Amino acid sequence: MTTTESPTYKIYTPQHNSELDRNQVIDFLYHHLDAYGDKREDIAKCIVYALSLAEGKGGAVLVAKENENIVGALILNNTGMSGYIPENILVYVAVHSSQRGKGVGKKLVKLATETVSGSIALHVEPQNPARHLYEKMGFTNKYLEYRLQR
Ligand SMILES: CC(C)(COP(=O)(O)OP(=O)(O)OC[C@H]1O[C@@H](n2cnc3c(N)ncnc32)[C@H](O)[C@@H]1OP(=O)(O)O)[C@@H](O)C(=O)NCCC(=O)NCCS
Repeated sequence: MTTTESPTYKIYTPQHNSELDRNQVIDFLYHHLDAYGDKREDIAKCIVYALSLAEGKGGAVLVAKENENIVGALILNNTGMSGYIPENILVYVAVHSSQRGKGVGKKLVKLATETVSGSIALHVEPQNPARHLYEKMGFTNKYLEYRLQR
């Protein structure tokens, strides 16, 4: 992707998202999460949850654009809980493969931390270099995650 401008960052919430093209974000994440991606329908569900006004749901969708093209996106889901469970989960973050290493991922994570209140959990595969980004942003990993997959 050829770009000439620095990105603009937009934050969409349950209250303010009428201008968001959800399909554009789904397509972007589907293509740029690389090996760490999910099915389109799972990404779509995550956006619906993030923008839900229902009690205990919600979150935010952050989009970085250059020349009308998405160069980065991040989705947060609220858990509806607090204290013993973090208030938020950072579910997806990806930067266009041609735009990595320029600070877009860091800016998206920083905006995410400023947008929601409470703690933010995320999971990342041990070999994913995205760990460096999270650690530089102050995330720590005290726990191992186990799942009973069904
Ligand atoms: C992870 C990802 C979002 C990072 O986006 P990015 O725009 O390239 O990251 P940034 O340029 O903002 O880098 C932020 C910091 O993390 C570090 N970092 C980012 N990617 C790194 C890598 N592959 N190896 C080492 N350090 C890395 C940078 O050095 C930078 O540190 P600095 O500020 O001290 O220089 C991007 O690589 C990506 O989309 N990966 C594929 C999808 C993915 O893995 N998502 C996370 C799933 S859990």
